[in-house]
Amino acid sequence: MALALAATLLPTAQAAQAAQPIVIQFSHVVAADTAKGKAALRFKELAEARTGGKVRVEIYPNSQLYKDREELDALRLGAVQMLAPSLSKLAGLGGADFEVFDLPFLFQDHAMFRKVVDGHIGKDLLQRLEHSGIKGLAFWDNGFKVFAANRPLQSPADFSGLKMRVQASRVLVRQMQALGSEPSVSPLIDVHEALRSGALDGEENTPANIYTQNNTALETYLTLSNHGYLGYAVIVNQQFWERLPPTLRSQLESALRDTTLYENSIAEAENTRALERIHSEGKLHVYSPDAQEMQQWRSALAPVYRAAQAWINPGLISAIQSLGATPVQH
Ligand code: LMR
Repeated sequence: MALALAATLLPTAQAAQAAQPIVIQFSHVVAADTAKGKAALRFKELAEARTGGKVRVEIYPNSQLYKDREELDALRLGAVQMLAPSLSKLAGLGGADFEVFDLPFLFQDHAMFRKVVDGHIGKDLLQRLEHSGIKGLAFWDNGFKVFAANRPLQSPADFSGLKMRVQASRVLVRQMQALGSEPSVSPLIDVHEALRSGALDGEENTPANIYTQNNTALETYLTLSNHGYLGYAVIVNQQFWERLPPTLRSQLESALRDTTLYENSIAEAENTRALERIHSEGKLHVYSPDAQEMQQWRSALAPVYRAAQAWINPGLISAIQSLGATPVQH
């Protein structure tokens, strides 16, 4: 009797289980009110609609679940299924060439960054993540980074002795050393508190990231150096992705294609909006270096290229430079 009862219950239990949506946990480290944060929400909407509810996407912004390094470990272990970390953070998974994106003044404009990531270089780099059980699906933009600190940063000499936050990238560490500052690698979510306690004096980031982390309350000077580009790769746990039913996977790919177009169309405007807010709030001194000052930054940072060739393929650096309108000599 008990067996007969179990036998009649089983199909119902299986049916109930089959009706459960597949959950994608998408963790990220920036505020919801950024290009990446908005795109994560757009992906959720599109993915849930196109799979007819067979997939549920849960978004965890602002390091709610994991900080910078931890989220990469969580993805490998399958504790979350999707991330969009900065390219700077991917060297540990895909090899040191990912740090090429951190070289100062490598990208002349946003179009040059897209030419690199949308071409064979981007494709090859994403494939390298597969040794680590990660599948790279898309590149998203943020924009050009600026310097911000509790002291004016008008020339390289002003960096002397300042404790400056960087992401975990040897190129970024060298960059801050070349300027005479003390680089400190820390997760984004810890920067605000470190600025408040005096453990940090400043950082480099995009205006949108600086503004939405509320660091403008603590850094009173911002220099529009536009010295480096911050971009992202959208990555998933490969085993999770490959085990999805093919129809669902292609619906998710289509949702991600449209989300990528959306993200890349709003990123620049998010940074412009952050700068407008910074100007209108009037709490920060915003400095625009002139051409001669920009040349001083380039000269001060040129040694970073020589150092980085010890771990980044020099052929990759020159292939990227050749995609610019006028390759810059370092
Ligand atoms: C940072 O750590 O500063 C950035 O990578 C954060 C982000 O994801 O934009």
